Amino acid sequence: MTDHATHLAAARARLSAATSLEDLQSIEREFLGKDGVVARALAAIPTLPPAERKEAGQAANRIKQEVAAALDARRAELAGAALDAERRADGFDPTVQPPRVERGGLHPIVQVTRELEDLFVSMGYQVLDGPEVELDLYNFEKLNIPPDHPARDAQDTFYIDPATVAPGAGRMVLRTHTSPVQVRAMERLAPPFRAIVPGKVFRQEEVDASHEHTFHQMEGLVIDKGISVGHLVHAMRTLLRGIFHRELDVRLRPGYFPFVEPGFELDARCPFCTQGCSVCKGTTWVELLPCGLVHPNVLRHGGLDPEVWGGFAFGLGLSRLVMLRFGIDDVRHLLQGDLRFLEQF
Ligand code: DAH
Repeated sequence: MTDHATHLAAARARLSAATSLEDLQSIEREFLGKDGVVARALAAIPTLPPAERKEAGQAANRIKQEVAAALDARRAELAGAALDAERRADGFDPTVQPPRVERGGLHPIVQVTRELEDLFVSMGYQVLDGPEVELDLYNFEKLNIPPDHPARDAQDTFYIDPATVAPGAGRMVLRTHTSPVQVRAMERLAPPFRAIVPGKVFRQEEVDASHEHTFHQMEGLVIDKGISVGHLVHAMRTLLRGIFHRELDVRLRPGYFPFVEPGFELDARCPFCTQGCSVCKGTTWVELLPCGLVHPNVLRHGGLDPEVWGGFAFGLGLSRLVMLRFGIDDVRHLLQGDLRFLEQF
């Protein structure tokens, strides 16, 4: 090994063993100081044979430069470690990753519900709620659907043993629609009144892309004197304008629901095409709103005299509307809680 290499190896070993700035100072003195390794090598040059002087001078300078650089690097390392230790002692650790900020958002069903609530509240409606575990009495009977009525077949649901919920209360179901709140509202509120009821409903369904056992509806009910189909159509047009932000033609087809008379299916011109598309199944009409004038029996069950009071009701398929609005092709996405889906809204 040449002198140069020996000195450098010695310097490196000393440096990596150094644990303090004081250690570094003494290494610096030893190698680069007035009487240090480099100074002595330079001082010895005149005593060497002339042929070796040049090389010896270059070697001494290389040691000087390399030791100085290694000293600087080690000094920075030790200073950084000291600073980190100081910060950690403060409870501040610059190496900790900041937490990812997860931003929440409103579920698309909540977004549309809130928009519709604002719209209806601006038209004098109040927003009501009702029980999801409902008495058969309200879900069916008071809505003019007696126990053996065939209309029950279309709304098979989950039957609850009342002994587990409210002993003696009578048969209970997971409500199949938001309509039971119609009678509950009549019983509680003094007429005239206007109300909407957004909420979850349940059915015993064969689940597929367009059927879910749990979905959302929004019921509407207006009770007043002299209510006609004209009032109903006007309210529905206003509703559609609020949802689609433009005027859509509507048409009424007869529809059968035991709690309204007459009952209708209200269709709107397809908001997405003029020629027919997959949403309107080529017909240019989308079926959106079952509705009608409140049946006299239902008024009576709600404690109102049908000779005095009348009203209209509608049952908006909120889940379906949300799907139309955001172009969602499978109803099962809505309630699965998959973040890959939810983060898109
Ligand atoms: N409750 C009905 C259903 O879920 C929908 C409905 C039809 C509601 C007509 C209404 C109405 O208020 O007037 O199938």
